[in-house]
Amino acid sequence: MLKSMEVTDKAVLVTGANRGLGKALVEEILRRGAKRVYAGARKPLDHADRRVTPLILDVTDAAQIGAAVERIGSLDILINNAGIGLYDDLGDRAALERHLAVNLLGVHGVTHALLPLLTHSRGAVVNILSEAALVPFPIIPSYSLSKAAAFSMTQSLRALAGARGVSVHAVLSGPIDTDMSRDADIPKSSAESVAKGILDGMARGEEEIFPDPKSASMAESWRGSAFKALERQMAAFVQAMPAKP
Ligand SMILES: NC(=O)c1ccc[n+]([C@@H]2O[C@H](COP(=O)([O-])OP(=O)(O)OC[C@H]3O[C@@H](n4cnc5c(N)ncnc54)[C@H](OP(=O)(O)O)[C@@H]3O)[C@@H](O)[C@H]2O)c1
Repeated sequence: MLKSMEVTDKAVLVTGANRGLGKALVEEILRRGAKRVYAGARKPLDHADRRVTPLILDVTDAAQIGAAVERIGSLDILINNAGIGLYDDLGDRAALERHLAVNLLGVHGVTHALLPLLTHSRGAVVNILSEAALVPFPIIPSYSLSKAAAFSMTQSLRALAGARGVSVHAVLSGPIDTDMSRDADIPKSSAESVAKGILDGMARGEEEIFPDPKSASMAESWRGSAFKALERQMAAFVQAMPAKP
């Protein structure tokens, strides 16, 4: 368990905030009384609420990440939401590289640039992953692979940054009704309900957040699994190591 992380009175950055789940997160975070919401998007974004500060932020662009960090004075919570999901069959290396560039390296770049601010505030990182991080969905294998890699990164970061007081959450959502899943004829949860589930999971201090009914059916078995026990063992090993000078 992590410490409870409520968004009330907090400064929060959401990447990919212009549509889909990111937009729903911004609205729910405002509704719960955040002090400031930095809304990262690739194109200029307008919002009527004066607590929203739009940021031009392509998560694959190091210069834009640097400029965003300059504008953000202090930050409590980073929500790495921006992502791409494209159909492929593992036959196209470029498709794999695009997924890794956004869903893995984009998350890495933004997180590491903001870690000093989050360490200062003893804040939180929330990585929006997918149940495909646990088991691949083979019609989107490159997407699944990128989310699995980002999940592994999230688990390592939890141990490493946790030692400095930063909580690291992984969101393992099932299908959400957004542009990304528009062509998939499967049951989906609304972006609004998933946004609420994510913020509720943060408030409960959950390491893995299963924010929709489909993924929630896995929560108990995941938390009691040998995999979770091994992750805790590995984290304890890291935390017992002498601090680097
Ligand atoms: N939809 C699902 O079924 C589902 C299920 C589980 C998890 N998720 C995850 O939920 C997150 C949000 O996805 P969504 O469903 O809301 O999809 P979406 O409607 O397609 O929205 C994707 C968002 O990511 C942004 N984005 C893409 N590439 C970016 C980049 N290089 N830099 C900055 N922003 C970028 C998009 O911005 P533009 O408008 O500029 O393209 C858009 O705001 C993703 O991480 C996704 O993997 C989705």
